[in-house]
Amino acid sequence: MFNISDNLSNDKNKMYCEIIEYAKMLMEDETDYIANLANISALLNQALNDINWVGFYLAKDEQLVLGPFQGKVACIRIDKGRGVCGTAYASQTTQLVENVHQFSGHIACDSNTNSEIVIPIMSNDKVVAVLDIDSPHMGRFDNCDKVNLENLCNLISINCNFA
Ligand code: SME
Repeated sequence: MFNISDNLSNDKNKMYCEIIEYAKMLMEDETDYIANLANISALLNQALNDINWVGFYLAKDEQLVLGPFQGKVACIRIDKGRGVCGTAYASQTTQLVENVHQFSGHIACDSNTNSEIVIPIMSNDKVVAVLDIDSPHMGRFDNCDKVNLENLCNLISINCNFA
């Protein structure tokens, strides 16, 4: 359907604008959140370099439950406040972790992971899901990734019916 990785800009901000345009196209006629999150995880997996896991955890009964993703099998349930994902859920803030080995309570699903970013997806002032991206490279994610992925998560919130 889309072959995004061949056409992306080398400028990181521009690349994220292109990803967000693709994401808008993918979600424009669909509000089912599982379908949309599945396609967004595939889109990010095609588009981003140096990552080894990308996907979503869904907030249910004070836990995060594994949702659509691309990568190796992962832990299924994460308690609120546990690990990087549970910290993003509890604090309602993005967690940008340059070195996961220095993050107290980090949950290692893949021993190759060295850095991670987790962005909460908000709906009606509540966390409904988180976007989690892992990389084998130390310090893979920076403020440019953070700002643009937060924009993408806002778009997901607007386009998906999490109710
Ligand atoms: N590392 C995460 C767990 C999820 S996996 O990376 C897919 C954490 O500490 O919450």
